[in-house]
Amino acid sequence: MINFWKKLPKPFLALAPMDDVTDYVFREIVCRLAKPDVMFSEFTSADGLMFEDNAHGFQKLKFSDTQRPVVAQIWGGNPETITKAASIVEKMGFDGLDINMGCPDRNVMKKHGGAGVIGDYQRAEAVISAMKIGAPSLPISVKTRLGNEKTEMSEWITFLLKQKLDALTVYARKPEQLSKGPTFWKDIGQIVQMKDELSPGTIVVGNGDVKSYSEAIEKHKKYKVDGIMIGRGIFHNPWVFEKNAQFHTRSEYLKALLDHMNLFVETWGRKKNFAILRKFFKIYVKDFNDATTVRDRLMKAINHDEVEKILADIKDQNNPSG
Ligand SMILES: Cc1cc2nc3c(=O)[nH]c(=O)nc-3n(C[C@H](O)[C@H](O)[C@H](O)COP(=O)(O)O)c2cc1C
Repeated sequence: MINFWKKLPKPFLALAPMDDVTDYVFREIVCRLAKPDVMFSEFTSADGLMFEDNAHGFQKLKFSDTQRPVVAQIWGGNPETITKAASIVEKMGFDGLDINMGCPDRNVMKKHGGAGVIGDYQRAEAVISAMKIGAPSLPISVKTRLGNEKTEMSEWITFLLKQKLDALTVYARKPEQLSKGPTFWKDIGQIVQMKDELSPGTIVVGNGDVKSYSEAIEKHKKYKVDGIMIGRGIFHNPWVFEKNAQFHTRSEYLKALLDHMNLFVETWGRKKNFAILRKFFKIYVKDFNDATTVRDRLMKAINHDEVEKILADIKDQNNPSG
């Protein structure tokens, strides 16, 4: 087995899996702007992958060599389908296989997926074994949270570390918090100490509210995590993985938006609704004098040509930041 986790720099930075955000196209754009050390697919239902005609599920698993090392993230609570999904992921050529054991979505939890498995040790063990059986040549990892209302962090994490995972990502909140309230990075520091004792070979990744490269380095120094995962920080700065943060001009932002849209249309054509792109406009169009007006116009655009025309219109207008 080639365990890419062991080859990453210390600390390394990861782009978080974000459903309906970090698809093939956005990951490709992030690689062009400032590439993280590792990236994840959006989470993909293992049960869904049992249907060969599940275009939506397989779209989520599209990746390119540029994105390597790239990890497929699956979710589900049925060991039988997990084994089959793991085998599909391995055959597709991913660098690693991750399972989501932290998502607080009610529909996911109802199926014993995501945070629904926290504290359900028998199922969690069966699911992790199923991943190892289905993808024997891939490093196996789990992304989770700090236990839940009923399960102490130390109990849950001890259990996970005993599974001898290749990597463990912990989001420093409990599922009940969703994405709100304080993060508990001190617990992440404690998890690193537990790892040193219980499973020194496991790579620990900390996650939660990290907004910049320098903040990630601070977290590494303070809590000794091997890696730091950034999710929503990419919404504030698409160059968040840049080691030496630089100023990026209005035209660089607008070019990134145009590249994103062009690749979206080229990749998905009519398979994905153009309106999906709207959620990305605010990543690229902000902090300029005319950002609000431009964004308002973009939000009304219904296709590629309309966006292109707006971008051409504004290109030469009042452009104080470049
Ligand atoms: C829109 C959105 C979609 C998400 N989808 C996933 C997902 O598919 N799999 C997963 O493990 N976590 C998912 N998460 C959680 C993130 O991976 C991450 O753990 C969380 O946002 C905390 O990190 P941050 O504070 O850096 O954003 C999602 C978060 C957001 C905001």
